[in-house]
Amino acid sequence: MGHMLSVMCVCVCCSYEKIQKENCRSYFSALGRADFSVLSHGLDKKTILFNDAKDCLGISGVSLTSYQVEVLGNMACTLNPSYIQNSHPLILEKLKNCGDLSDSQITAVQSLLLSGNTAYGNPSTWNEQTVEQLSILAVYFKSDLCNTLSFNVRRKFFSVLRKQKIPMKKLRTFFTECNSESATVSNITAVTIADASFPFGFNSTQFDLYLDIAVLQNNLAAITEKVVDTSFQTIILNKLNQIYPSGLNDGVLQLLGSTSRVATIDDISKWNITIIDTLSSLMDSNGGLWEPEKSKAVIMRYLSMGNRSLGSAEINAVGSNICTLNISVLENINAESLKEVLFPDLSSCTIEQKSALYITANTSFSNQRSKAYYQIMRPYLGKTIIHIHRNTKHTQV
Ligand SMILES: *[C@@H]1O[C@H](CO)[C@@H](O)[C@H](O)[C@H]1NC(C)=O
Ligand SMILES: *[C@@H]1O[C@H](CO)[C@@H](O)[C@H](O)[C@H]1NC(C)=O
Ligand SMILES: *[C@@H]1O[C@H](CO)[C@@H](O)[C@H](O)[C@H]1NC(C)=O
Ligand SMILES: *[C@@H]1O[C@H](CO)[C@@H](O)[C@H](O)[C@H]1NC(C)=O
Ligand SMILES: *[C@@H]1O[C@H](CO)[C@@H](O)[C@H](O)[C@H]1NC(C)=O
Ligand SMILES: *[C@@H]1O[C@H](CO)[C@@H](O)[C@H](O)[C@H]1NC(C)=O
Repeated sequence: MGHMLSVMCVCVCCSYEKIQKENCRSYFSALGRADFSVLSHGLDKKTILFNDAKDCLGISGVSLTSYQVEVLGNMACTLNPSYIQNSHPLILEKLKNCGDLSDSQITAVQSLLLSGNTAYGNPSTWNEQTVEQLSILAVYFKSDLCNTLSFNVRRKFFSVLRKQKIPMKKLRTFFTECNSESATVSNITAVTIADASFPFGFNSTQFDLYLDIAVLQNNLAAITEKVVDTSFQTIILNKLNQIYPSGLNDGVLQLLGSTSRVATIDDISKWNITIIDTLSSLMDSNGGLWEPEKSKAVIMRYLSMGNRSLGSAEINAVGSNICTLNISVLENINAESLKEVLFPDLSSCTIEQKSALYITANTSFSNQRSKAYYQIMRPYLGKTIIHIHRNTKHTQV
């Protein structure tokens, strides 16, 4: 999104009231290139902007012309479903730029596509070329739309989406909605795994049946990189537990990626996490969010196996997962460790967790000059802290 203007900037530098009527189209054209996802919590702002745009472009009713859609640009991401369903289908092109659509917007996109009244024609006629053209829009496909597509078209969508480097959650949603059994499943081999669409076409029963444990062991990285469905990931872990009954070791754990997130607390209690690289790799946010209890189990397992404490290397490795630890653990972090961690991500910590860390950080950084001190202490400050220091300078932070 780096190339997009910030919507905030545009709004601050020249509000609509100050724009001459004859200039308003270029104003909205420019605004249409902004990233509207930053306004996701500002519904009122979106309404105001769209009302101004309606006034400028003479929009009445819910059928926008291609010209109006073109001028609105990324503002299409904020439109309610009736506009999506009734406007010129060019609106689909604009919706490709949206970070996320609401459920009702998604339903409207499906209806529009299913109607066949778009540049892409009736879904039953889609081919590989259509797939390339629609590409990112497929993250919104639901099973009712996918069921009208041929197996090869669906599989192609999966490969195309994978190449787009979209968030794993979206790829998983597509897989869940659109995967179906291929007529020709057979034993999984290195060649099967290398295909961009793997494991599309296998259902979970077949994946379990056709994935030999030796093949899994020899191709673990390639498999965990491609499998996004949690039921398939559970199958992978079950097989690994068969191969390594006394617990997974560092080498294996470092290759799990998002598959690690489906482990049970019981699995985690047997993991041999002996080096910091393994902790870093397990905590990598690219693997998805951890359930707090599991994250805590992983970190505590690492600490207890080596009789370690939470030092700066560990704090850096766990990132925002530090907020899954309980207060007694956070209180034991020493001032020297915290001193080596600039700007920890404490955004998901509770006030109580922040307070525990604040007390240590206050010691770590007490010799900083006042300006730097307030910068450095910023992550540790929650509402409670401001309350505690109501009568001191801290309130200004
Ligand atoms: C598939 O793999 C299983 C288990 O490894 C093996 O017994 C079977 O013969 C294989 N089938 C084919 C068709 O290669
Ligand atoms: C997977 O497909 C096979 C063959 O069509 C079927 O017997 C089995 O029930 C399916 N499993 C699931 C989980 O859908
Ligand atoms: C994991 O560590 C336990 C001891 O904590 C040991 O018994 C086991 O052999 C180790 N397993 C592996 C795979 O290294
Ligand atoms: C763990 O470390 C602490 C402090 O470094 C030490 O006092 C304790 O004996 C160690 N425990 C084990 C089981 O090694
Ligand atoms: C803190 O965490 C440890 C280990 O996960 C747990 O045994 C203990 O009960 C927790 N304490 C509290 C107060 O939650
Ligand atoms: C923070 O540190 C300063 C200077 O060392 C000290 O006066 C103050 O009491 C500390 N505050 C807390 C909450 O520990």
